[in-house]
Formats: sequence, structure tokens, C-alpha cells
Amino acid sequence: MLLEQNSGSGYTNRTQSNGRVYIETYGCQMNVSDSEVVASILQSNGYSLTSKLDEADVILVNTCSIRDNAEERVWGRLDVFRQYKRRNPSVIVGVLGCMGERLKDSFFDKKNLVDIVAGPDAYRELPVLLRLAEEGQSGINVLLSREETYADISPVRLDKNGVSAFVSIMRGCNNMCSYCVVPYVRGAERSRDPETIVREVKELIDDGYREVTLLGQNVNSYHWTVENGGLVSFAKLLEMVAKINPTLRVRYSTSHPKDLSDEVLQTMARFGNICSHIHLPVQSGSSRILKLMNRGYTREYYMGRVEAIRRILPDCAISTDVIAGFCSETDADHRETLSLMQWANFDFAYMFKYSERPNTKAARRLPDDVPDETKARRLTEIIALQGKLSEQSKKKDVGKTFEVLIEGVSKKSDQHFYGRTSQNKVVVFPKGNSGIGDFVKVAILKSTPATLIGEMVL
Ligand code: 5AD
Ligand code: SF4
Repeated sequence: MLLEQNSGSGYTNRTQSNGRVYIETYGCQMNVSDSEVVASILQSNGYSLTSKLDEADVILVNTCSIRDNAEERVWGRLDVFRQYKRRNPSVIVGVLGCMGERLKDSFFDKKNLVDIVAGPDAYRELPVLLRLAEEGQSGINVLLSREETYADISPVRLDKNGVSAFVSIMRGCNNMCSYCVVPYVRGAERSRDPETIVREVKELIDDGYREVTLLGQNVNSYHWTVENGGLVSFAKLLEMVAKINPTLRVRYSTSHPKDLSDEVLQTMARFGNICSHIHLPVQSGSSRILKLMNRGYTREYYMGRVEAIRRILPDCAISTDVIAGFCSETDADHRETLSLMQWANFDFAYMFKYSERPNTKAARRLPDDVPDETKARRLTEIIALQGKLSEQSKKKDVGKTFEVLIEGVSKKSDQHFYGRTSQNKVVVFPKGNSGIGDFVKVAILKSTPATLIGEMVL
């Protein structure tokens, strides 16, 4: 039994072996997947998980550094946790992930804010760091690794829908896009042993999951050398996963245009259970800006990849990421981005203002010289255009029938389910006799800006 200090009443007895952990996750899907690894490591070390902050003995924030506003959000939350800690002094607060890696022990500069810091490759150390913190010492491990893939760890699924899960297939990134902090905070690229990936997917199927998303910063450069010298490429891995069970839906993210091969597209065409959706971040439509971004492709090359997708996978949805106002971007460059978006007819996009990240190549070599109002105006134009494209993309589905995997009850009506088409579009429809996790055929009756509305057909 542990003795610990409690806010109001001096010392109290704590009966559970280690304590309850509350995890909050910011940033990309990779972070969601990492939090599941963290949950698994802590559970095996006697901790239990809670989704309620006011039950927590340990608060962990898995953080994102990709843009300044992502970090600002986390600072805001840390302030909230500091107030919670004031009322409950024995509570341990830990910063995990990319901000931990970037800002290291500077979190300890502010008094009573953070007890432990762990970078993305240091999660196996968390039980040790937590023990130190329980003894009143702050603990930090921000070492990056060339090998760590957490391959042997079975993540504890935190999503709760029990239908769709992320499976991390690689870590880190070697691309060195000039604006991006990821290579610095997540380290060098390393792929995970395919056998462990297949094993994890089989466990998910046994647990009732119907869809997996294979995750990596640049999945197309996945590669694993097997003992006999053979190579498992991303196309091969996709095939291995798709073959496990023909009713399992397989997705993946993110593709880098310079590495998206026809072989991957052909593999997608061969397996009906690999979803018809590719996330292919373009970032800019101007070859000059793409060069400054160190993206490794031109506008024309990107267009060639889109044409290959349209040729090999005619019903494939394409989504993208766009950055507005990168260093030296002119109105002419910006118009090239708009015209490329129009030409590619993207189904969906994530759109951002350029945010200079300390120590990246762009921060060191290129002035952040586009005024904020200009960035904002260009972003507004990009968002407005994508709004139209997304709406058109949904409108053209009206009258068609899609196979939909039911993910849950609609937030707006408990009489309706929502699910996704293979193209990753959300569909809402009356429940009927179906259940969460079922594949159903849905005829699309109309579309709203965000959603398709339909009804089940037999
Ligand atoms: N500023 C703005 N957007 C960025 N992204 C990455 N780094 C930055 C940055 N410094 C965007 C890119 C990337 C997505 C995950 O985030 O579009 O594809
Ligand atoms: Fe994910 Fe990149 Fe944000 Fe890290 S910095 S959480 S890798 S989006």
C-alpha cells in the first residue's frame, strides 16, 4: 500500500497498485496510435486507465509541434492541469511526444507544471520516469532511437468504437521538407517487422475490428529486409495485410507523392478490400515553392501521379494537404496552388497557414516574409475553393449506392448511424436492423457540405 500526500487531509492510503492514468492526445493519427502504445506499457506495469480527468493520479499529454497553434493549445491545457494539480498535489503531469522532444527540460522551468517529459522513442521508460516522479523527482528521456518501433507491444485501443483501428507500420521521417519539424522530433525513418504488423492485424480481427489504417509519416518508403535477403516493400505489405481477411477494410496514410509507385496503385486495384482513397499531400502548386520546400517533385510530377491514380483506380478519392504563404510565395505561386487544386479536383483537404518552426531548414535559411494578412487571405481563398470542390465531390455521389462500414450512432440523431464509404466519405442513414461494425449498402439521397445522407438498400 502506498502512502501519499493529499491536498486537504495530509496523508491518505491509496489502495490500487499504481494509479489511474488519464491520457489526452493532440496532433496526428500517429500520436493517437502512440498513446495506445503508452496505454499498453502502463497497463502492463500496474496502472489503470481512466477517461475522466477528475479520477486521474497521472495526467499525460501526448503533444504535437507541427504548427505553433498546435503547441499553443497544449500550453493552454497544461495551465488547466496546473490548476488541477494545485488542488491535488500528488497528481503527476507528464508531457509526451513531439513537444517533449522539441522543448526537452525547458518544461521544468515553470514551477509545478510538469513532472516528467518523454519523447516519442522513450515510452518504454515511462514506468521508471513515473516512479521517479512519485518519489518527488522530475524525470526526462528524450533520446531518439534508430531501432525503436514498439513492434512487440500490443496497443490498448482507446478509440472505443471497436470497428476501426490504427496500426503503426513505421516511425520517423527522412524527407527533410524544409518547413517540417517532424524529422527533428520523431527521428530517422525506420520500418516495423511485417510479421508483427500482420500479427497485430489478426489480433484486431479476433477482437471484432473491421478496418485498419496502416500509419506512417511516409508509408510509401516502407521497406523491410527479410532474413533470406528478400525485400518487403509497401506494396507487398499492403498485399500481405489485404490477404489476411477479404472482409477487412484496409486504409493507409500518409503517401508522399515522390514515392507513390504504380505498383502500390496496382495492388490497390487488385484487392477490393483496400479502400479507394489516397491522401496525397501536395503542399503547393508552384514548382518553385515545392523546390524551396524540398519536396522532391514538381507540379507536373504531382499531376502525373494524380493521372496514374485516375487511370489505375478510376473511383479513387484523393485528399491533400496545402500550406498557404510559405517563404517568398507570390500571388502567382498562390494562383498555381489554386489552379492545381481545381485541376486535381480534390475530394477533401487539410489546409494551413505556413508556421515557421524553430531550427527547421526553412527557419534557418528562408525568411518568413509573407505577411500574416496575406497568408490569411490566401488560406481563405484555398478553403473557399476546397469547399466548392468537396461539395461537388459529394454531389456526384447522389443517386449512387455504396458499401458503408457502420462506425457509430450519429451525433445529431440516435435514430441514425454514421459510417464511411471506401472513398472515406461520411454517410448518415436511418438505423434499420443493422448494427455497429456491419457492412451495409446505402443509396445516397442527398448531400450536405460535410456529409452524405442515404438509406439502406438490400
Ligand atoms: N506550417 C504549416 N503547415 C505545416 N505542415 C507541416 N509543417 C507545417 C508548417 N511548418 C502541414 C503539412 C503536412 C501536414 C501534416 O501539416 O501540410 O502535410
Ligand atoms: Fe504528428 Fe507531426 Fe504533430 Fe508530431 S509534429 S504529433 S508527428 S503531426
